[in-house]
Amino acid sequence: MTKRSQIPKRWLIVVILTLGAAIFAITPYVPLDSSYSRVTISTSFTLHYPLLLTHIFSSFIALVIGWLQFLPTLRKTRPHIHRIIGRIYLSLVAIGGITGIVVGMYTDSYIRQMSFLTLVLLWLYTGWKGYTTARNRNFNAHRKWMIRNYAVTLVAATARLVTPICILIYLVANQTEPFTSVEAVLKHVLEVNIWVGLVVNIVISEWLFISPSKNTHNH
Ligand code: HEM
Repeated sequence: MTKRSQIPKRWLIVVILTLGAAIFAITPYVPLDSSYSRVTISTSFTLHYPLLLTHIFSSFIALVIGWLQFLPTLRKTRPHIHRIIGRIYLSLVAIGGITGIVVGMYTDSYIRQMSFLTLVLLWLYTGWKGYTTARNRNFNAHRKWMIRNYAVTLVAATARLVTPICILIYLVANQTEPFTSVEAVLKHVLEVNIWVGLVVNIVISEWLFISPSKNTHNH
């Protein structure tokens, strides 16, 4: 263990914000009681709630342990731990992604369904590329694919963090419409927040590659 900071300080705020948003998101599911679910549970598909829980907890653990992979000290001094966490992370992404496709089919909005499908495809593809590049010992490419993959994981947090901004923009841009209810505003906002989160995270992750001073580490 060196005295060098594990995560650059500017990233600590990002870690805290994303973990906070993720913990806030999963809280109603911790009692394992479908009556607390924010997602409307299908009465005709008995596996809906168990699959939603599987999705939520596997994706949440992936999001939490994913940060560990970016610790330079861990990668350098304990590469076997980096490999073990990496395998667990990618397995959780596969479980979270596949269950995400199924629960996504029960979302009542086509726009949200398409956002989930896009996320799953990007999640599984970047995860697969991250795995195969590591197996081929192409660590430069591995680093890039895993940053892309984790950027998709973090959409779950970013989408929630941008929601207040989306609400504000909606209210400013639609001042002429009479305000009916918070639910009516949220209905519009929740159609777009995942897309906004995805675009923001893709831009940030690609910017990390082209801005040498912003590189997080070398393998
Ligand atoms: C990145 C790929 C992901 C995809 C494609 C995805 C997909 C989905 C889908 C389809 C739903 C059901 C939404 C609905 O029916 O309205 C859902 C709900 C949920 N997911 Fe994910 N998810 C992903 C990542 C994550 C991550 C990383 C977390 C970690 C916290 C997470 C936590 C949740 C939670 C808490 C819910 C319940 C939503 C609510 O209460 O409003 N998901 N997800």
